[in-house]
Amino acid sequence: MAGKVLVLNGPNLNMLGTREPDVYGAETLNDIEAKCRARASVLGLSLDFRQSNTEGELVDWVQQAQGAFDVLIVNAGAYTHTSVALLDAIKAVDLPCIEVHLSNIHQREEFRRHSYVSKAAIGMIAGFGGFGYEMALEAAARLLTNK
Ligand code: DQA
Repeated sequence: MAGKVLVLNGPNLNMLGTREPDVYGAETLNDIEAKCRARASVLGLSLDFRQSNTEGELVDWVQQAQGAFDVLIVNAGAYTHTSVALLDAIKAVDLPCIEVHLSNIHQREEFRRHSYVSKAAIGMIAGFGGFGYEMALEAAARLLTNK
């Protein structure tokens, strides 16, 4: 395997499919994971795909990623806009981080326009629905090739 990628999903993303489908689309998180698995296998990446509603668990997973993974892909859900703890965890590990959002957070309420995760991320993909995760995997593969 060329690289190990950890995809982390934050709160309420387990509700995709029924949660505000006009904003987030009809795909479930399982659908997105399946597409990511297919894309990762084409790219020669190994993939671990997780979701938690708990801030501390996400922080634990980021900490544990050091030495175990090569790239982080993070959709922190609402913690994007609130969690200094998650930002600090991402900064504490020596791993490239790619931020993903299903929706275009800059087109929505003012409070969604600020992202703590962005302060530690190489870049952000937002507004392409579940396809954004596949784009992030492409970016991860490119980062690892150019390393
Ligand atoms: C989200 C955007 C966040 O503002 C929101 O709290 C989410 C999902 C997205 O993927 O578009 O839970 O991260």
